[in-house]
Amino acid sequence: MVEKRTGKIVGVNGNMVIAEFDDYVVQNEVAYVVHGSERLKSEVIRVRGKKAELQVYEDTKGITIGGDVEFTGELLSVELGPGLLGQIFDGLQNPLPQLAEKCGFFLKRGVYLEALPDEAKWEFTPSAKKGDKVRAGSKLGSVKEGIFEHWIMAPFSLDGEMEIDQIAGKGKYDLKHAVAKLKDSRGNIYKAAMQQTWPVKIPITAYAEKLKPSKPLVTKIRIIDTLMPVALGGTYCVPGPFGSGKTVLQQLISKHADIDIVVIAACGERAGEVVETLRTFPELVDPKTSRPLMERTVIICNTSSMPVAARESSVYTAVTIAEYYRQMGLNVLLLADSTSRWAQAMREMSGRLEEIPGEEAFPAYLETRIASFYERAGFVRLHDGKTSSVTIGGTVSPAGGNFEEPVTQATLKVVGAFHGLSRSRSDARRYPAIDPLESWSKYDSFIDAKQILKVKAILRKGNEVDRMMSVVGEEGTLISDFITYLKAEFLDAVYLQQNAFDKVDAATAEDRQKHAFNVIHEIMEHDFKFESKDAARKFFQRLRQKFIEWNSIEWKTDAFAEKEKECRKYITG
Ligand SMILES: Nc1ncnc2c1ncn2[C@@H]1O[C@H](COP(=O)(O)OP(=O)(O)OP(=O)(O)O)[C@@H](O)[C@H]1O
Ligand SMILES: [Mg+2]
Repeated sequence: MVEKRTGKIVGVNGNMVIAEFDDYVVQNEVAYVVHGSERLKSEVIRVRGKKAELQVYEDTKGITIGGDVEFTGELLSVELGPGLLGQIFDGLQNPLPQLAEKCGFFLKRGVYLEALPDEAKWEFTPSAKKGDKVRAGSKLGSVKEGIFEHWIMAPFSLDGEMEIDQIAGKGKYDLKHAVAKLKDSRGNIYKAAMQQTWPVKIPITAYAEKLKPSKPLVTKIRIIDTLMPVALGGTYCVPGPFGSGKTVLQQLISKHADIDIVVIAACGERAGEVVETLRTFPELVDPKTSRPLMERTVIICNTSSMPVAARESSVYTAVTIAEYYRQMGLNVLLLADSTSRWAQAMREMSGRLEEIPGEEAFPAYLETRIASFYERAGFVRLHDGKTSSVTIGGTVSPAGGNFEEPVTQATLKVVGAFHGLSRSRSDARRYPAIDPLESWSKYDSFIDAKQILKVKAILRKGNEVDRMMSVVGEEGTLISDFITYLKAEFLDAVYLQQNAFDKVDAATAEDRQKHAFNVIHEIMEHDFKFESKDAARKFFQRLRQKFIEWNSIEWKTDAFAEKEKECRKYITG
């Protein structure tokens, strides 16, 4: 039995508590600040001599000098096991609805609930047998969690190869029940329960190797998949000014992307921002199964009214859960909205520690923290040969929409794709308001690269002509330039923009995108001749109307083919 290590409070400053100790203290270990019957969770963030500085995950009102602190020797961890899907947690993995039920609307401090209920029993089906060789992450059996086969795996903390000494038969067990006993070469026995605990700041790496992300993650958002694609296991960021459509875009992707599981880290400034996610998300219906989207979703959420350290930890809790499901051979998408709020939490903590500030008072380690968060994404090969992935997409909300600020810049250095939302596009209600000229991706699109280059050239030229026309007017513009401008506008309206409220147009599958892009590309390449600019404008107006109608027709139906014929007549004359 480990002896209990304790300390005495010698200073309090906001959520920071300084405690003097006799024994030793481990950097980042969890400690409890004792206040009467309350025990407030905290983390050691700095040790200096015989003093430990703790960041309390709770309001510290009433905490006084001379109070007790208990050190646990454990790092801040999450519970991993069946029952995570469909849940809404705070940054410390307290299930929020249950917490609200227990404490009412105002969450009481010092109340921590089991992330996964103890009393729940799950039907375990073994898939390995006594004598099998296993290692960290090996599948021992499974339980059914909604539509998924949830793997029960050998603990991620195991080192090297082990042999199964005992394994439970098919039956119902509670999460803490050891369903297997594993033996190492020296005869030491390790228990494997249905549930395991893992420190949030350490990546789960129980896979064979990390591969280069090479398969596209089809979001079904045309502008993204065609011009600035995301890869399975890749990373991307969505910076955008206030109200430009970041959250709506993330929800569209959660709903439609070809992905198994979505983990959302909702970090809001105002409680309202998060309430929005909490209200809308459970109502979303999965278009693939017609069941609630929540059944394959986990939400971690926090607001500025929650203590700063809990906010800071929420993205780690989220990414650890994402990595856990990746170990089961699933493709997981982690969406962090907004990472600026997370960075602000870091800034607050750093300020309280009186660290030397970097740019805009963010800590000097802002870049490394952002980089190590995105590095936890990845496309991996598991020990059984299956591949799986964690893709990370983060929104950034730069003040005033200025992308030159530290969080956007640090993020841009590490991500594989950049989907910049523009104020002028959202004001013009050109949704999704991703700027097609500013945005980029390092991943390959499923559309031919040469064709994309041509289309981008037309967009760029069209944009130039547009700006020129605002100076010299339409009369001063060559008809050939004017046609390029109309082509760019047409492409934007019928392909880059997508109507989120139209059942069909909201999501375009890969084969349909390829098909539609080919037709659009033909139009871009076509050498149109018009007698006047007016005639050209009218022509493209009619064409646009036809294509928008086409976008709303179900793929591979007679009506679809019929409308396509109508559209094509415009090219052939
Ligand atoms: N794809 C879309 N189609 C139609 N309307 C949209 C779309 N995207 C955004 N909007 C409109 O813009 C509003 C704001 O969008 P959203 O909440 O996603 O912005 P945001 O960038 O997340 O804002 P904040 O900075 O406040 O978090 C939505 O309520 C909706 O009316
Ligand atoms: Mg938002």
